Amino acid sequence: MKTGTLIHILTLFPDTVSCFLRESIVKRSIEKGIVGVDLVDIRDFSSDKHRKVDDYPFGGGRGMLIAPDPLFRAIESIDNRGYVVYLSPMGNLLEQDRVRELARRKILTIICGHYEGIDHRVVETFVDEEVSIGDYVLTGGEVAAAVLVDAITRELEESLGNSESRLEESFDETGLLEFEQYTRPAEYRGLKVPEVLLSGNHKMIQRWKMRRRLINTLRKRPELLEKSSLTPDYQDILHEIEEEREDERRG
Ligand code: 6GU
Repeated sequence: MKTGTLIHILTLFPDTVSCFLRESIVKRSIEKGIVGVDLVDIRDFSSDKHRKVDDYPFGGGRGMLIAPDPLFRAIESIDNRGYVVYLSPMGNLLEQDRVRELARRKILTIICGHYEGIDHRVVETFVDEEVSIGDYVLTGGEVAAAVLVDAITRELEESLGNSESRLEESFDETGLLEFEQYTRPAEYRGLKVPEVLLSGNHKMIQRWKMRRRLINTLRKRPELLEKSSLTPDYQDILHEIEEEREDERRG
């Protein structure tokens, strides 16, 4: 069995990150030892009596940066840092494959920037990879760190079993989006669950699920189909859908 991944998180707002880790599945995973999180408050490494950690950028420009000294010392306080990730909008876009790779590491250190960022000498000296969680700008890396820890935790849970549901999740090995799901009652306020799901016909249900995944991906994220790796079964259904669309166009 894979023992837990240890994640050190360096931040100016440990409570923001911690608050998120105290809930739900991530909390359970921490209790089970599947993932370990060590929060390091960068401010504890300030030499300033007011615990100041930021300063103005050389060359002018807006905002403040986290100065090198508190960050160098915070990072150096961690004996075994493993793979060091700096969260920033300039980083590699976080996608499921990247999450999978990061989840394989035994030890990770995540640096959360704040203000307008961190002194670049920190990046040059310690950082193995910059990671961004999307093309938008956040006020700090804390939410991104929570996203990363959540996704890694889920990946670790999956690799430890509970792998049945995995076959039907978005971004599983097919690279397709999910099908729609329903629970009881079978009719609610006149809204009905698709008949086939109530049929008990396992083969037809399986086929419906595959079909819905293809249709949803075609409609919402067609670019994912290019990257997907479809089994022959999926390819057959995709052909079928494409032919139906052709027929519709011809009228
Ligand atoms: Cl990782 N940090 C910040 N500050 N903004 C972001 C981001 C990270 N990813 C996307 N936007």
